[in-house]
Amino acid sequence: MIAKVSKWIQFKIVEPTMKKRLGRLMSNQTSVIKYMSYKGDNDYVIPNIDKNRNDDPIPPKEYWLGYGNTPEEYIGSGKEDVKIMLDLLAENGYSERDNQAVLDLGCGGARMLRNMKANMPNSELWGLDIDAKLIYWNKQNLGDRANFATTTLIPHLPFSDEHFNLVYTGSVFTHIDDLAEAWLLEIARVLKKGAIFYLTIHDESTVQSLATTYKSHPLAVFLHENPTYNANKDNFGMLVIGRDNISQVFYSTEYFKDLVSPRFEILGKKANAYGYQTAVVLRKK
Ligand SMILES: C[S@@+](CC[C@H](N)C(=O)[O-])C[C@H]1O[C@@H](n2cnc3c(N)ncnc32)[C@H](O)[C@@H]1O
Repeated sequence: MIAKVSKWIQFKIVEPTMKKRLGRLMSNQTSVIKYMSYKGDNDYVIPNIDKNRNDDPIPPKEYWLGYGNTPEEYIGSGKEDVKIMLDLLAENGYSERDNQAVLDLGCGGARMLRNMKANMPNSELWGLDIDAKLIYWNKQNLGDRANFATTTLIPHLPFSDEHFNLVYTGSVFTHIDDLAEAWLLEIARVLKKGAIFYLTIHDESTVQSLATTYKSHPLAVFLHENPTYNANKDNFGMLVIGRDNISQVFYSTEYFKDLVSPRFEILGKKANAYGYQTAVVLRKK
């Protein structure tokens, strides 16, 4: 009898409640498996891809993620950030341009990646992002320049070991907090031995730049009103303001060196290479 009652409770109360709760979580824009689903829990249709287009499509402004106010500024900023990256890589001994396997992790609307085919012909180019709407736009419009896939905030890359010659992330480790170590280990896994990881971070120079050259930037205004930032900006190892994929993460030079040292050596870095962010060139040990 008791077993029958508990089975009834399980069937009639527990399971429907769980299903309802799971349904609620799954329908969130950022879902339980941590990515931004396309159109929430609605049905959707993606048109066939027009493979004959040869224009230079520009994403809708809301997909620019704040990079520029005009199409010229948006496109120009991507070209500029790729040039700065390739120059810094060349200064640090990586100047291969042909037949490379390259991953742009957190590619957004492919602002940088859209320029990579012209710079690295015959290469296998990939753009990943947790935001499915950006990935669909990229696939529809820039699918002839790179491969794209939606991934999750969980530190997993859907590639085999030692696949890539170059992984780069523009302003992504500035938003990864507790999972930074796990992401570094995962990126190291998919890089060939001796291959390059280029990333941009917030560090002491960023704090400096946000107090001077960039003091009217919305991020500077936001941070300068934040008590945790103000109390710790002059002395920190890792400083995290806000949480999850919208956190603002800062590293001291020393802390960052220790963070990457299990798998990477630091080849070089450049302050204010990506706006107020510092670019760092790492080589997989
Ligand atoms: C500030 S935007 C930079 C976009 C692009 N890298 C650029 O330079 O134009 C950060 C991007 O990283 C994505 N992102 C954040 N965390 C991520 C993760 N763990 N894996 C993949 N993408 C991530 C966000 O969805 C967003 O598109």
